[in-house]
Amino acid sequence: MKKIEVCCGKSCSGMGSRRILDFLIAKLGLKPGEENDTMSLNTSPCMGYCARSPNIRINDDHFIFGANVKNVLSDIEKGGKYVEPQILDLTDDFLNDLS
Ligand code: FES
Repeated sequence: MKKIEVCCGKSCSGMGSRRILDFLIAKLGLKPGEENDTMSLNTSPCMGYCARSPNIRINDDHFIFGANVKNVLSDIEKGGKYVEPQILDLTDDFLNDLS
């Protein structure tokens, strides 16, 4: 089962994620929140990779950056690119400056 999430944050929306979501809804026959035997489709708030918008996340830790309608189905089939989860370092000097 592939868990597909389309980012609908401001940056991704501005870069066309809604168009990609509409395309996936039509091609997969799924609405956000639905699943079939092989996939689930959902939207997501900002994923934290706005500079690479529009983005799709697969199974929580794989991404399609700069997704587009032309390639999105084959990119989903390939499974996306693994991205190490971001862990917030609370000892970071930047955060200490905020306190
Ligand atoms: S709005 Fe999509 S990653 Fe930030």
